Amino acid sequence: TSEITRMKNLNIIKMGEYQVEPWYFSPYPEPLTKHPILYICEFCLCYYISEKQMDRHRAKCTLFHPPGNEIYRHDDISFFEIDGRKQKIYCRNLCLLSKCFLDHKTLYYDVDPFLFYIMTRNDEIGCHIIGYFSKEKESSENYNLACILTLPQHQRGGYGRLLIQFSYELTKIEGKTGSPEKPLSDLGLLSYRTYWAEKLVELLVSFEGSLSIEEISKMTGFTPQDILHALYTIDAIKYYNGQHAIIFNEAAILAFNKSQKKKRRIINPNAIKWNPPQ
Ligand code: COA
Ligand code: NA
Repeated sequence: TSEITRMKNLNIIKMGEYQVEPWYFSPYPEPLTKHPILYICEFCLCYYISEKQMDRHRAKCTLFHPPGNEIYRHDDISFFEIDGRKQKIYCRNLCLLSKCFLDHKTLYYDVDPFLFYIMTRNDEIGCHIIGYFSKEKESSENYNLACILTLPQHQRGGYGRLLIQFSYELTKIEGKTGSPEKPLSDLGLLSYRTYWAEKLVELLVSFEGSLSIEEISKMTGFTPQDILHALYTIDAIKYYNGQHAIIFNEAAILAFNKSQKKKRRIINPNAIKWNPPQ
């Protein structure tokens, strides 16, 4: 069967104070796509075709944060856990919005099997969505993340790293290891490779003594396969005295030092209030 690549159908999306141009097709109701701007409520993610409709909505909408349990708050960042079965409309709206920036996902309507972890940045007005990831309630493939998105207006600000770190913190609380669902997009793969490499160099540079891949896996929540993949991409696996060994080259250490110098947010695992769903 062949699949028709559908053309990008929205011109501009306006969300809160931001205006962004979608990258890909998203199955919003067709009549709405004929208007120059689609207005999206940044709290409930409902959509409107005019500023006037949007203002009328905001006067009635009582939501100032995502409709779920706040399971993390530290500095100005929160995470909310949302069950796709309980918040169908919100989760469908989220999938419609995120499809604008994802070209290969096909699961926009059946949200029941997923949990959604929404990351917000908080101010005196409310908790504003920055990005999210979804996770299957039960993954037969050991995936700990299905879809990840940083809204384009917030990309390259280190938020993707926070989302990825959070997904592994949950996996560690579950006492498991996990990996993102394949295939990853180009941007997804770039972000994961950077994340894995940084975490591994950080861990191994600060650790005295030797560690097996299994031990690294336990400490990070990364699967042994992802650890090996990441170490190969930074050329840190060497065959040495009849054994495989992890040896960092100068480039990896330089990249590590550079990333240490950047001041950026990290997730504080102690601020996570969460038990694995029963
Ligand atoms: N070009 C080059 N490297 C990039 C990149 C880009 N456009 N975007 C991310 N990276 C790499 C960089 O190494 C970056 O670190 P640096 O900025 O310190 O160099 C690292 O990934 C992490 O970047 P970060 O700012 O934390 O990520 P982000 O908030 O921009 O989010 C995604 C990353 C993947 C979530 C975001 O690009 C996105 O939402 N893409 C669209 C949806 C998607 O493709 N999702 C994955 C498939 S489900
Ligand atoms: Na999706």
